[in-house]
Amino acid sequence: MHSSLPLAPRESPPSKVRHEPFSGLAALVGNTPLLSIDAEFRGHRRTVFAKLESMNMTGSIKDRMALQILHRATVADQLKPGARIAEATSGNTGISFAALGRALGHPVTIFMPDWMSAERINIIRSFGADVELISKAEGGFLGSIERAEELARRDPHVFLPRQFSNSWNVYAHEATTGPEIVSQMASNGRTLDAFVAGVGTGGTVMGVARYLRRVNPGAHVHPLEPANSPTLSTGHKEGRHRIQGISDEFIPPIVDLALLDEILAVDDGDAICMAQHLATSLGLAVGISSGANFLGALLAAERLGSDGDVATIFCDSNKKYLSTDLMHREPVRSDFLSTEVKLLGFSVLPRHCDFCPPGTRTSA
Ligand SMILES: Cc1ncc(COP(=O)(O)O)c(C=O)c1O
Repeated sequence: MHSSLPLAPRESPPSKVRHEPFSGLAALVGNTPLLSIDAEFRGHRRTVFAKLESMNMTGSIKDRMALQILHRATVADQLKPGARIAEATSGNTGISFAALGRALGHPVTIFMPDWMSAERINIIRSFGADVELISKAEGGFLGSIERAEELARRDPHVFLPRQFSNSWNVYAHEATTGPEIVSQMASNGRTLDAFVAGVGTGGTVMGVARYLRRVNPGAHVHPLEPANSPTLSTGHKEGRHRIQGISDEFIPPIVDLALLDEILAVDDGDAICMAQHLATSLGLAVGISSGANFLGALLAAERLGSDGDVATIFCDSNKKYLSTDLMHREPVRSDFLSTEVKLLGFSVLPRHCDFCPPGTRTSA
């Protein structure tokens, strides 16, 4: 059977019973539509391609990484039947592991900073996962990671996905996100010249970079960070920002900046304005990091000039940000890029058939 997620070889899983849930879940993860969005930016007409990752099983790009890691760990017998999964996460990853973990019969514990949105915390709890909230005084994000490690030290059956250092996180995007974008664009006669993605774990940007370096070595791959909290450029936590999901308090071990091009930076208020603009002008209900990525893609397109095609990621929808500043009027600064963007419209490049499960193919 074809699936949207390249899983480990069929003969590897220990039993038929444990393999089948992965095949089913794989049909719900990845193979998302690609939007082609027309805009005017600083007087020039631009097209930005954006992967609509809210179409994944739990509504974000993190399902790709979570399913890949759980499958590989199961095949390698590191994740035993019924064993607990524990992870430190700023939100979407927790939702993915909580849902996929339960679908596969595992209890789940999520450690997260206590300043994340109420929607994210409650969605994780709704899957029956235990949520441990860690305050700034207890170490915030780094404290969350330490607590997950401590749990695994106490109980050897606990499985830690360790998304910040697990190379299967990168592989998930090298094997699915990158090829999907390139093939969807190719089916529309376009070549990917530059890719932009905000860095949380860095799995997305590194995986797509690894794929692109093979198929289109000339393509630019830009990591993106909040201008008001530039961890990637400085190497440590600095300032504060409101783009949940990106720029935690350190450079993740799976990020190799030497493989990437220039770091792009977008102010968090500008990202909020852009996400609001995408929703109110085009009906595209996206999260704050999607607004940042869209602005980053326009900056990359400006660098390339009129010939270049740029793709980025709409990591999730607005649903988890209804209690955040995304729903408030953001004070607009004169240096905001979003004030210079006019959105003209969009079309949809459907799921590509190379990745479609049989029976759902939309073309030959
Ligand atoms: C909303 C959102 N945007 C962007 C990212 C960054 O993705 P990655 O971890 O692959 O760098 C995440 C990761 O959690 C996220 O939740």
